[in-house]
Amino acid sequence: MTNKYEKTVTGDTATLTVRGKNYELPIYAGSSGPDVLDISKLYAETDMFTFDPGFTSTASCESSITYIDGGKGELLYRGYPIEQLAEKSDFLEVAYLLLNGELPTADQDKEFKKAITYHTMVHEQLVRFFGGFRRDAHPMAIMCGVVGAMSAFYHDSTDITDPQQRRVASNRLIAKIPTIAAMTYKYSIGQPFVYPRNDLNYAENFLYMTFGVPNCEDYNVSKTLADAMDKIFILHADHEQNASTSTVRLAGSSGANPFACIAAGIASLWGPAHGGANEACLNMLSEIGSVDNIPEYINKAKDKNDPFRLMGFGHRVYKNFDPRAKVLQQAAHDVLEELGVNDTLLDVAKELERIALEDPYFVEKKLYPNVDFYSGIILKAMGFPTSMFTVLFALARTVGWISQWGEMIEDPTQKIGRPRQLFIGETERNYIDVDKR
Ligand code: SDX
Repeated sequence: MTNKYEKTVTGDTATLTVRGKNYELPIYAGSSGPDVLDISKLYAETDMFTFDPGFTSTASCESSITYIDGGKGELLYRGYPIEQLAEKSDFLEVAYLLLNGELPTADQDKEFKKAITYHTMVHEQLVRFFGGFRRDAHPMAIMCGVVGAMSAFYHDSTDITDPQQRRVASNRLIAKIPTIAAMTYKYSIGQPFVYPRNDLNYAENFLYMTFGVPNCEDYNVSKTLADAMDKIFILHADHEQNASTSTVRLAGSSGANPFACIAAGIASLWGPAHGGANEACLNMLSEIGSVDNIPEYINKAKDKNDPFRLMGFGHRVYKNFDPRAKVLQQAAHDVLEELGVNDTLLDVAKELERIALEDPYFVEKKLYPNVDFYSGIILKAMGFPTSMFTVLFALARTVGWISQWGEMIEDPTQKIGRPRQLFIGETERNYIDVDKR
């Protein structure tokens, strides 16, 4: 899909004075959110770089896919509020929306779902890659390896200049990522892989491949669990230029094939400050153990000398509630009630949330629960081990990554990303022979 949206060149400028000389920086406006200053000619004109480690004030690209209003706690996929999509849509319909910019008609929806369903199997040779891993390998390590290895199998969809090949690669990744994710789980518990079924929807098929056992007995997918799984996928699908999406874009900017780019995104998502937070959050709740221990951990989180942070709290963009956390909080309650699970961790989570939101430290720093705070509780109740939590995040985010990758490739102004630096190291010096050191 070629981008039909354009930034507005406002005609206004910001005046920058550098050592007595003035420079005019053009101001552009989008459809929502902060305006931007175009500094792309700053180095050529001033021989200076801007400095913004962590990109706290830097827009890396133009995008029309996802918008977050951090102050209001709003998240829109192609303009549609996440709450409405979570309630009314399904993951593959949301995937179509993210990829194409519009909700599908009934025929488009049917055609897309068929295309995905009939690409869910992986090349049988790919199965051999799993045998090279230790059974106790972290599932994210296997995901990085196997998804990257897809570059070695699907040569007919790695020419990024061909729109048809880009579409095939996108569909293959969206279709096969649940199969690979389920295979990482089966491999870790020593059970045989379960082949996908074409009569199940996306979430049902994933649960079937994960928890079904071939030939031993039928696995009847629970509608409640499948609906909760589908909602969790929707909530995790995309999120502007977060660390892993920026990784995918930067890898893609060099012309790397989409499978390698998605593997890079998986690697970045693995970190506990990012997608690994859901696993870290559940481990933290387990470590806290009971409501009585919460004050001790709140104090640790506030202690500047203690590296401990409340996992599942805080966000670079949200300075209000993460809207995904709100949806997941209700979903957690519904799933645990439906399953008859009385998980004390949910009690600990709710009390931790209540205390933290009243504590001046968290109020002052605008630290609210994020998407990872409740997802782990639901996933644990559904039977997933904590080591699989980030795998599920990667499964869902694959459609966001590949949508953002496609938008970048189709951007006519796209060029290879190559940040500069503020060099603070040694200035030039001569080599010293070893006998003189
Ligand atoms: C995701 O970017 C995305 O969109 C990501 C994501 C997506 O969908 O792709 O939303 C998914 O990654 C959600 C975030 C999951 N991570 C966690 O839950 C880990 C815990 N959170 C923190 O590590 C932190 O809040 C970050 C990494 C999420 C955000 O970090 P920032 O924006 O760089 O903020 P910061 O680290 O500079 O913190 C600002 C202040 C600091 O105090 P001061 O130095 O100003 O005194 O807030 C404090 C921090 O010490 N702080 C916390 C805290 N998070 C920030 N203190 C205690 N507990 C926390 N969780």
